[in-house]
Amino acid sequence: RKRVRTVTLQQMKERGERFTMLTSYDMYTAEIFDEAGIETLLVGDSAGNNVYGYETTLPITLDEMIPLVRAVAGAAKHALVVADLPFGSYQESPAQAFASAARLMKEGRAHAVKLEGGAHMAPTVEHLAKNGIPVVAHIGFTPQSEHALGGYRVQGRGDAAARLVEEAKTLERAGAFCVLMEMVPAPAAKAVTEALRVPTIGIGAGPDCDGQVLVWQDFAGLRDGRYPRFAKKFADVRTVLLDAARAYHEDVSSGAFPATEHSFEN
Ligand code: KIV
Ligand code: NA
Repeated sequence: RKRVRTVTLQQMKERGERFTMLTSYDMYTAEIFDEAGIETLLVGDSAGNNVYGYETTLPITLDEMIPLVRAVAGAAKHALVVADLPFGSYQESPAQAFASAARLMKEGRAHAVKLEGGAHMAPTVEHLAKNGIPVVAHIGFTPQSEHALGGYRVQGRGDAAARLVEEAKTLERAGAFCVLMEMVPAPAAKAVTEALRVPTIGIGAGPDCDGQVLVWQDFAGLRDGRYPRFAKKFADVRTVLLDAARAYHEDVSSGAFPATEHSFEN
């Protein structure tokens, strides 16, 4: 298998082949997902929630993102590694966005970056793309704006679908190599996917996007609590780890561990 590149995803769209993205924030998950053939790994700012334990994605900084990006990029032999530009690291100006994206690529070794926002981000996307930085544009529900949007809500319902298509086309024209849609009605995501030359990736955006993305702690069932409707649990890793930790605790308490085979002789 060869390294997945932005053109690989473009060719997959043209051939009608679907591709997969998973988030990853460390070496082993990157290695495992890469081995499984996942085409793209996203070091998402969802690390704010899923690594650092913040309530939202807003607090995470570039300095907190970069070590995670470096770990994933170092372990992914084939996957295209996309890193999120965190809140506050790109909205001020195209120049600020370039400086932040360059850090994700130089210090983190990311292959591409993702940023949130609609048509108003087009000048920024254009500045990055013209300077050699592949950009994924994230539209629909954009978690960095959750306080402005009034919480986790589906975007692009009804009349707003046409606006979503226009927004996506503007971002494509600006140079985005991919458009990611979060929590938009399936028909709206289908319309965007058909209107664009570049591939789309969906999360809570129905079955008609060119690719799908899930947060790994959701897809693997690591996380406790309520799961969003769009998150399918492909495993129950939380239970596996919980059982293992309980068994370890029990074996230490009872003296069953360590046994002779785990101990060194004189
Ligand atoms: O940070 C993230 O995990 C994301 C995905 C939900 C698309 O942006
Ligand atoms: Na994100």
